[in-house]
Amino acid sequence: MGRVCIVTGGSSGIGRSVVEVFIEDGYRVFNLDITATDACETIRCDMTRVAEVERAIAGILATTGRIDVLVANAGIHFSATIEDTAEADFDRVFATNVKGAYAAIRTVLPAMKAQHGGAIVLTASDQALVGKSNSFIYNLSKSAIASMARTTALDYAQYGIRANAVCPGTIDTPLYHKAIDAYCARSGAEEAAVHAEEAQLQPLGRIGRPEEVAALIHFLASDKASFITGSLQVIDGGYTAR
Ligand code: NAI
Repeated sequence: MGRVCIVTGGSSGIGRSVVEVFIEDGYRVFNLDITATDACETIRCDMTRVAEVERAIAGILATTGRIDVLVANAGIHFSATIEDTAEADFDRVFATNVKGAYAAIRTVLPAMKAQHGGAIVLTASDQALVGKSNSFIYNLSKSAIASMARTTALDYAQYGIRANAVCPGTIDTPLYHKAIDAYCARSGAEEAAVHAEEAQLQPLGRIGRPEEVAALIHFLASDKASFITGSLQVIDGGYTAR
């Protein structure tokens, strides 16, 4: 049996690029997502429902007998101050971004322990490292993801399991475009001007591409990163260096 990789949120954006890079490297890739893609085997699964995640991963294990890599990437964005974040918004963002990652990691660990090895990569955000305005619950959720990478790394190093998080800055994905559209609808700002401003905010003068983040995730999951665990890897065109 070849190497097996599970990606959550692999139907779009960063996750979709992750699926492609692992397929290219010869992995059998399974995608857990609420929407389908034809890029790989997708199991329809809502990450906010722990039992669904457990069922999906049990099904994968029954087929493959092993899991080498988990990329816990599914996430949603929500822009608001703490005052404007209703309880339902808090629960929805935390359930998707944090509970979803918890469910996936917790479910793959027994198999990785039995194999005496495995690599977990979580998609955090530059917002695990810096505050941004109007981003109360998203920022909090990404800080929690960073914490999950550290604590998982410490608890499972003894089993040869590594856990790291990537911290992407602004990346050109459907999530980014939805966030800009919502901002323009709220503020009346002109879309092209906002995209240009976003590019100028980054020291490299442009926003990132999903395949650039996928390349870092692929590296972190590989044996080339065999001494890297519990780390937060920034990939943000220099944004947080300011
Ligand atoms: P995207 O919206 O293009 O893709 C997210 C994927 O997650 C979609 O396929 C969606 O169907 C899936 N998903 C959402 N809720 C789900 C649920 N409950 N169950 C299963 N699947 C679900 O977004 P993008 O930009 O590719 O984001 C991927 C990750 O990267 C997210 O965790 C996001 O927070 C993070 N990120 C994105 C940045 C950006 O600028 N695009 C910057 C930093 C982090």
